[in-house]
Amino acid sequence: MAETSSLLRNHTGYRIAGSNPALSAIYIKTPRTAGRFCLCCKISGTLYPTGMTVSQEQISDESRVTSYENRGSLLDTRYSRLAPARNTLRSSAHTHGQTFSTRPTPQLRYTMPPEKFRQGDAMTDTLTIARPDDWHLHFRDGDLLAETVPATANVFGRAIVMPNLTPPVNTVAQADEYRQRILAQVPAGVTFEPLMVLYLTDTTPVEEVERAAKSDFVHAFKLYPAGATTNSDSGVTDPGKITHLYAAMEKHDVPLLVHGEVTDADIDIFDREKVFIDRYLNDIRRQFPGLRIVFEHVTTSEGVHFVREASELTAATVTPQHLLMNRNDLLVGGVRPHNYCLPILKRRQHQESIQQAVLEGHGRFFLGTDSAPHARNKKEAACGCAGCYSARAALPLYASFLEQHNALDKLEGFASHFGADFYRLPRHTDTVTLVRKPWSVPEVIDAAGEAMVPFYAGQQLPWSLG
Ligand code: NCD
Ligand code: ZN
Repeated sequence: MAETSSLLRNHTGYRIAGSNPALSAIYIKTPRTAGRFCLCCKISGTLYPTGMTVSQEQISDESRVTSYENRGSLLDTRYSRLAPARNTLRSSAHTHGQTFSTRPTPQLRYTMPPEKFRQGDAMTDTLTIARPDDWHLHFRDGDLLAETVPATANVFGRAIVMPNLTPPVNTVAQADEYRQRILAQVPAGVTFEPLMVLYLTDTTPVEEVERAAKSDFVHAFKLYPAGATTNSDSGVTDPGKITHLYAAMEKHDVPLLVHGEVTDADIDIFDREKVFIDRYLNDIRRQFPGLRIVFEHVTTSEGVHFVREASELTAATVTPQHLLMNRNDLLVGGVRPHNYCLPILKRRQHQESIQQAVLEGHGRFFLGTDSAPHARNKKEAACGCAGCYSARAALPLYASFLEQHNALDKLEGFASHFGADFYRLPRHTDTVTLVRKPWSVPEVIDAAGEAMVPFYAGQQLPWSLG
């Protein structure tokens, strides 16, 4: 047995500083062996609590590969929850042996799951939660519905259906027809409720808000600033000029869903969310305190802050891509069109703000996949479309992220409770079960005769749907 400190002479190692010095540890890099890395690991190696004695064999034992890569503050947060002995246990138990993918795309690096899921009892390999809902979804229309509707309805009980079709869904009557087309594609034996949304324009009449309030299937209006994203050309040209519609929504208690980006050519794409908050959203929030607002697909610290600071009537949806990725995943090593969505992925500090809200189980941040299919040739193009098709993989992706941060217990609130509470709809009483069984996201999906590359295509996830 040799002291950890002496082994450092022969191996690259560094101290992981936790907030509690007792939990500090030494990370020791062992030699890389091509093709033998675990899915979750960039560096093979293991973690030893400071002062612990370890042998040379222990260090070079590849079954001890861990995911304890130095990833800054989040890493510290994660470690500060672990007792040293447990670190060691987790390291040596880390033998699931999946092959590490050399693709730069995945942000997930899986750690061992919380103890409660590894006790060898009925909990070991399954996770059952109340049926989730998707609070931000693009089904599209026509033949594509045969793919998109079952993909969502097989997992989620309800979905907020985005209205950015061509032409958009502007009226209750159009929403009713679209809803029938969706329901026609729900698989036999599956219960699924599409929650319809109307697309705001400069000329939406106040009476449409009244009609929406009276209908039992329209649940919100969506504000797309004109030109902000896919099929938003007939959106609102000046969000500051439709206050009469916000007043009507407040009066009739119909939520306003916001794509929070300005579209000015001279505003940098990475600043557009922040400028939208400063220029419009703060005022709307102040002027209409009784209006329920959902900050859709939040992507920045400023967006997270806006929601945190606001009352119970302000919430946000969180997509898998904004939780799992930052702009490096879009741009480093080449442009990755399948990670391109709007609002665009931001820098890592923004990603961490979103992660923090979800990891703490904040009740006004809930699941909204923003699953938005585009044909492969429209994504892999000189001018590629924005949107990630995540419907099939979304729940396993969220579960894997939470497990990575020892927070699987936050999945049910995020996926199944908080959104229903905000929309004042009953929580589901039936359940879905996730199984700890590796599952590979398809490389490509044939939808309506066209190839589509889903989000996380070809990647293996540790959880699948039971
Ligand atoms: C969405 C789409 O393709 O409809 N795209 C996206 O990048 N998110 C529209 C949207 O929600 O902005
Ligand atoms: Zn969307």
